[in-house]
Amino acid sequence: MKTWKKIVGGLCLCAAVGGCAPSAQDGKNAAAEAGSPSDAVVETIMARRSIRQYKARPVNRDTLQVILDCGINAPNGQNKQSWEVRVVDNPEFINGLTALYTKANPKAAEDPSFRNMFRNAPTVVFIANDPSYDFSQVDCGLLGGNMILAAQSMGIGSCCLGGPARFMETEEAAGYLEQLGFSEGYKLLYCIGFGYPDESPAAKPRIREKVKFVD
Ligand SMILES: Cc1cc2nc3c(=O)[nH]c(=O)nc-3n(C[C@H](O)[C@H](O)[C@H](O)COP(=O)(O)O)c2cc1C
Repeated sequence: MKTWKKIVGGLCLCAAVGGCAPSAQDGKNAAAEAGSPSDAVVETIMARRSIRQYKARPVNRDTLQVILDCGINAPNGQNKQSWEVRVVDNPEFINGLTALYTKANPKAAEDPSFRNMFRNAPTVVFIANDPSYDFSQVDCGLLGGNMILAAQSMGIGSCCLGGPARFMETEEAAGYLEQLGFSEGYKLLYCIGFGYPDESPAAKPRIREKVKFVD
């Protein structure tokens, strides 16, 4: 099995930007880190990529429930849980909304791999936040991060989606937004598509210089 150090190292090498000169700290920690029980978590994080092609098989609801429970166990400001979550795996909803989307954006459907507006995912989780709480978007992001990684650990792919949430704010999509039934005051922030991956995209490069230790 690949250790996480190899995966991180590999990503570093293939990154178009970002140096990867080993620091003194790397050497010091290497022995302590080898075979660490946290390898599985790090490997899951480093193996995840956004998936935009899925097998037709939907994710069953028991599995989804585990993913959702991982989501709501995310850290969140003052334990306010300033999110609301709706899960849609009904093809009628997804395809009906997609028909409106392609009417408004005909170019989208020209791609021969296009199946639906949620980057082809058979299951979509919609996340709304409470704009009256200033850290609510952070809460919702952490919620989604937990769900995405829990899914990854079970072989389920995902793609975080901002574009479709924007479309759902338009007049033509209002009926679908209403069907989600978010509470008064909550605002749809983003969605996450889930499904069994039918592609294995390469990692996109990360800019390591954006991260610095401050001595
Ligand atoms: C807030 C947010 C919104 C995103 N919106 C979209 C989207 O509308 N469509 C899409 O295909 N991908 C979307 N993505 C996925 C990003 O494009 C992707 O995470 C990024 O390119 C890095 O690739 P990776 O996830 O494979 O590491 C979004 C991601 C985030 C975090």
